[in-house]
Amino acid sequence: MKYKSCKYIQGGIAFRHDAVSLCNKLCGTKRYEKFNIPYTENFYEKFISVREEAIENCKKGTLPHEGCLSCPYVEEKEWDEDTRFKEIEITHWVHCNCGCCYCAMLPVTKGKMVKSKQNSPYIELFPIIKRMLKENRIHPNAFFSVTGGELTMLKEFPDIMKLLLKQKDASYGFCLQSNGIKYEKLLSKAVLKDRRTSIVISIDAGSREMFKLMKRKDNYNDVIKNLKHYLKDAKSNQDRIVAKYIIVPNVNDTKEEIDKWIKTCKEIGIKTLQPSIEFCSQVVNPGTFKEKQGELYHYMKEQIIANGFEMITYDFLESIIKNKSFDITIKAEKE
Ligand SMILES: C[S@@+](CC[C@H](N)C(=O)[O-])C[C@H]1O[C@@H](n2cnc3c(N)ncnc32)[C@H](O)[C@@H]1O
Ligand code: SF4
Ligand code: SF4
Repeated sequence: MKYKSCKYIQGGIAFRHDAVSLCNKLCGTKRYEKFNIPYTENFYEKFISVREEAIENCKKGTLPHEGCLSCPYVEEKEWDEDTRFKEIEITHWVHCNCGCCYCAMLPVTKGKMVKSKQNSPYIELFPIIKRMLKENRIHPNAFFSVTGGELTMLKEFPDIMKLLLKQKDASYGFCLQSNGIKYEKLLSKAVLKDRRTSIVISIDAGSREMFKLMKRKDNYNDVIKNLKHYLKDAKSNQDRIVAKYIIVPNVNDTKEEIDKWIKTCKEIGIKTLQPSIEFCSQVVNPGTFKEKQGELYHYMKEQIIANGFEMITYDFLESIIKNKSFDITIKAEKE
């Protein structure tokens, strides 16, 4: 049966710091509040039923909420009958040992480094994941995006990872986003286990001085050292260790700094780079898209290819640049 839906409705779950959501994807800057289920009693059961209802409604031709109507992730096709969770986002904490000037979590952390690993005010995910596994709700080839916060600052991270990595008859892919200040051997273990897994480290600078401005911490040398460590661990999967650069207006938005970043990545043996722009516009750059970000983003892409790197990108950045707007739903409305 063909019907309109998206892969997140069909098999997505996002554990955010304040709520669990059906929609994993960042759809422009709009937040669809009513789609979030707060972590109150029975939130897990509620989530399961909201999702089942959403799939049934899609089958009848009704997408779950108005935001979906202009969402580029909607597709009309024969969807897999297996609706176990396949796209799982783990981002339920904000603890971090860094203070990036562009951090998407700034509205929550207010720029403070929330360092405590103890007495977290947020939910514990380990028992929930355990329950999902017991109830066979996780697809054996599921993909997990672990963002946060900083995963090396999440007390239950080792337990969650060990549990997922030891599952028999399953191979999970992970996008593991870390600032790289602390080394975590479980990341390497995950990279060796599944080719889809990547470790993504945002350096955002080609020098210690720029790193300090961007990240408000003096750990440039540690990040470079840990990147080398992950590269060594990754053996034949070295292309899965990714260095990233987020262009932030008036801070690191120069060709010189980008060139230095590319040169350093080449020297330490990085194979894959990710260019990006600051796109949580409400944080640093309220509401306005700066054309220079787009120009530099294209410059970065050209240089990455010219220097023989592999490249990964967010699919929605070109829409932002083309429309000069952070609302990626505009693309779908225009078509
Ligand atoms: C919120 S961070 C948390 C993970 C980890 N602490 C880190 O910095 O990589 C998740 C990802 O979002 C990116 N990010 C954070 N704030 C952003 C922003 N305002 N615009 C674009 N990307 C952002 C980071 O570079 C990182 O790759
Ligand atoms: S907003 Fe987009 S990604 Fe989110 S559930 Fe709707 S269609 Fe899916
Ligand atoms: S390292 Fe990640 S979570 Fe920490 S401040 Fe930077 S972007 Fe935010």
